Amino acid sequence: MALMEELEVLRTQTLGAIAAADTSAALELVRVGVLGRAGTLTGYLRQMGQVAKEERAAVGKAVNEVRAAVEEALVARKTALDAVELSAAIDAAAVDVTLPGRAQQRGTRHLINRIADEISEVFLGLGYTVAQGPEVETDYYNFEALNAPADHPSRSLADTFYVVDRSGDEVAVRGESDVLLRTQTSGVQVHAMEDQKLPIFVIAPGKVYRRDVADPSHLPQFTQIEGLVVDKGITFGDLKGTLDYLCKQMFGPERKTRFRAHYFPFTEPSAEVDVSCGICHGEGCRFCKGTGWLEILGCGMVDPNVLLMSGIDPEEYSGFAFGMGVERIACLKYNVPDLRMLVEGDMRFLRQF
Ligand code: DAH
Repeated sequence: MALMEELEVLRTQTLGAIAAADTSAALELVRVGVLGRAGTLTGYLRQMGQVAKEERAAVGKAVNEVRAAVEEALVARKTALDAVELSAAIDAAAVDVTLPGRAQQRGTRHLINRIADEISEVFLGLGYTVAQGPEVETDYYNFEALNAPADHPSRSLADTFYVVDRSGDEVAVRGESDVLLRTQTSGVQVHAMEDQKLPIFVIAPGKVYRRDVADPSHLPQFTQIEGLVVDKGITFGDLKGTLDYLCKQMFGPERKTRFRAHYFPFTEPSAEVDVSCGICHGEGCRFCKGTGWLEILGCGMVDPNVLLMSGIDPEEYSGFAFGMGVERIACLKYNVPDLRMLVEGDMRFLRQF
């Protein structure tokens, strides 16, 4: 009987295809081809109605046998293929513990922070403590209480970032003092004099902001370290000795310092301090622009007016103050020609320090 022979061929072919399927995806294709909605065996089941009545039982039995055999073979093959595929996946994911590890990239402390810490360490060793003030400051602390007259050039809009509200109006505290990004750490002097008991020996490292375009010697945001001493009997000699000691600690014992008269609103007398050039040792070269000296900070004796404004009696107390740019000192120490190199985030440059 043709139908029964066809079924036998189908059984043989299907079992052969199941045995030959070498992935579970290939096996699934075989399964759909036989048992799916348009599958070959499904086709025979659909045709049962057309089979002559007397043959129906025998054909039905044969179809069911083929189906049972195919289903059994599918399950067995699926189990075998799953096991093979699982062990292949495990092998593929295996870690070879004999391979050398991959080195982790380790960062370095940024040069700016390192120099700030080095300077701080020098003063901590002298018994100073570290004070901090806000970066968003008022006009009072940044200028007014530091004796900077209202027409002082640094107060102009061109040099200072003023904080404005949404309509562009300047923000003021209690309708009086404008709010700004501090242009110098000197305002921490005022906070220290208001908040601390005398005598005062503090340094204040921190960020400051100015409306400058970045160039080799300017950054719109940079780091300063402020210093303030207020005690009985403090003299200009104390100031000179302290800053000379700082320079020798930072740059080496052979370096010399010199004090040049200068003007700052909050100190009287005021000076700028130069350190002898480390490249030409004072002879004059390109790095020091032929002068033999490098300017590193500003300083002076605290103006009696400034002491008075913060409630300290200048008849009884005197003090000195100083302020320096950390980025500038970092560049001078390592002969870096351009301040911007410190903030560009180029790891090839930064990793050297
Ligand atoms: N605040 C000054 C500046 O930003 C630096 C300075 C000069 C600080 C003299 C001082 C000082 O404490 O006494 O240029």
